[in-house]
Amino acid sequence: MGASSTTGCRLVVLISGRGTNMQAIVNAVRNQALPAAICAVISNKADAGGIAWAREQGIVTAVVPHRDYSSRDEFDTALADAIDAYRPDYVLLAGFMRVLTPAFVERYNGKLINIHPSLLPAFPGLHTHQQALAMGVQWHGSTVHFVTPVLDHGPIIAQGVVPVLSGDTPDNLAGRVLQIEHHLYANVVRWLAEGLISLDAMQRVQVRGVASRSFVLTPQGVEPSQR
Ligand code: GAR
Repeated sequence: MGASSTTGCRLVVLISGRGTNMQAIVNAVRNQALPAAICAVISNKADAGGIAWAREQGIVTAVVPHRDYSSRDEFDTALADAIDAYRPDYVLLAGFMRVLTPAFVERYNGKLINIHPSLLPAFPGLHTHQQALAMGVQWHGSTVHFVTPVLDHGPIIAQGVVPVLSGDTPDNLAGRVLQIEHHLYANVVRWLAEGLISLDAMQRVQVRGVASRSFVLTPQGVEPSQR
């Protein structure tokens, strides 16, 4: 794996922090021997824990510090230059905590994928676990979706649901959501690598041969939802 690999679906992963979703993506590619290559992990923060992990794994890393740029446009241009050096088929946002400009999003139209810690369209933006607890929802979760210029919006590829339990705090709810996120992103990366994902005329996602694009966290672990 790495920049030297030229086989299969070329992936660049963007992170801002600890990068456990990025690790789940890397492990999916490796453990399932997917026809995909993690060409680079790029962060806007030099001290992101996920960058150190990726380096230890021998994955190519790059840092484009947003603080070095005086505008969003300048940062996004530098970020796009860094990404394009790896000629990705898909750019996966995995806990990348910068709002991207419409020009950036349009440049990667159909190639830019995000994971958001809520069941979109509920709770876009920040503090999704606090928002869920404040609303008293009984189910919460995460969404993997194509990115459009509207924040936390776009064709939904997969969703995972977790129960909200009495006494939950934002932190333990976040931990439960994270468990299902790792399964979600691993599945989506497999579908991408196998070329199964497309958009129909209504801009809705189709995944060829896959009946269930939703997952549920049960006491036994993560399972596809029954349809
Ligand atoms: C994940 O829960 C992800 O959904 C969320 O940040 C966390 C990153 O965790 N992303 C967003 O909030 C994007 N708006 P990780 O660094 O351990 O993968």
